[in-house]
Amino acid sequence: MAPFNRGVYLPSVAPPKQTDRTRAASSDDSWRAIINALPDAALTIDANGVISHQNEKIPSLFPEMRVGKAMDQLQRDPDLMSAIAKALEAPCLAIVVKFVERFPFTRTIEATVTRLDPRLESACLVITFRDLTEHERLERMRADFVANASHELRTPLAALQGYVETLQGPARDDEAARVRFLGIMLSQAQRMSRLVDDLLSLSRVEMRAHLTPQGRADISDIAADVVQSLESIASQQGTAIELTRLNDPAFIRADRDEVVQALQNLVHNALKYGRENGRVRVIVTRQNDAKSGSSKLSVSVKDDGHGIEANHLPRLVERFYRVNPASSREKGGTGLGLAIVKHIMARHRGDLTIASELGSGSTFTLSFDELPVG
Ligand SMILES: Nc1ncnc2c1ncn2[C@@H]1O[C@H](COP(=O)(O)OP(=O)(O)O)[C@@H](O)[C@H]1O
Ligand SMILES: [Mg+2]
Repeated sequence: MAPFNRGVYLPSVAPPKQTDRTRAASSDDSWRAIINALPDAALTIDANGVISHQNEKIPSLFPEMRVGKAMDQLQRDPDLMSAIAKALEAPCLAIVVKFVERFPFTRTIEATVTRLDPRLESACLVITFRDLTEHERLERMRADFVANASHELRTPLAALQGYVETLQGPARDDEAARVRFLGIMLSQAQRMSRLVDDLLSLSRVEMRAHLTPQGRADISDIAADVVQSLESIASQQGTAIELTRLNDPAFIRADRDEVVQALQNLVHNALKYGRENGRVRVIVTRQNDAKSGSSKLSVSVKDDGHGIEANHLPRLVERFYRVNPASSREKGGTGLGLAIVKHIMARHRGDLTIASELGSGSTFTLSFDELPVG
């Protein structure tokens, strides 16, 4: 009687007698299965250097690779080719090589070449490929970020040190210099403290990037709170700040404090980089999508300053990117405000859009999905 195993019918066929050849063939099948299951792009090549099998991740990395093609017609990288030749010649440990692919676009690839059992004629070597481009880009970004942050902190620190030494030495008995220098020292210390606050904010939002916001907040109320909190700064510099809000409830899914912080950064920028004695408008709007029946809520911050040249727009949200570094520092900027806004919006699955025209001002808009009322 045919055996049953957990309800699965298993035909009672005697297993085929294993010869060296059938053993090698079934081993080949096992290798195919293993290669298909690998998380990386992988292929096997035979003793003549021809591709005998490739998994489905290969075409996205190397569109021109096909089973039956010779590796040396597809790849010219000397390190990779010499690793393949070496592994085909003699058993060896895995050889790891890194090379740059130029087609269809520039990428850094790491290949691991491993020799299999030589009896597997159709699969002498297995090569796995890993695209390191994104990993290397992130590494570079991290290194640049640490270098930039250190530089930003070192500048005020060096100034503080210089003033302390002057006050201890040549200006020891100079009352007027002491008063002036202490004022400068305070502003340098405040600059360092703003920078540390922004660095901490950035790392906090980054750490919570994967946590969906849980709260509900009315976007018009948030806009009103932000306008109120910055009104005194606006009036000190003679800028009028106006709010246009929606009259009916307008709720979004939000971590309220974070959305307040994002909008505060935008209004603060509008006050800093807008026209002197100018006008800043904060406008809440709703866009209905008739097709889906859903709606979006946006809050725009418009200034009438000198605007931003188009070539700067895509880079504004990069950490430490400023159109005019000296003017930003002089106005107390850290260069991190918009990077914080970008991260907050990503966490809220919302968008930040920037429009600007030289000479007439800039508009920064935050948009969110509206939550149904109730
Ligand atoms: N409303 C605006 N008008 C003109 N330029 C702006 C405006 N908002 C931001 N920018 C430019 O974008 C840069 C980055 O902004 P941000 O990340 O907030 O840094 P910070 O304000 O600390 O310099 C600013 O240095 C400035 O050059
Ligand atoms: Mg700013």
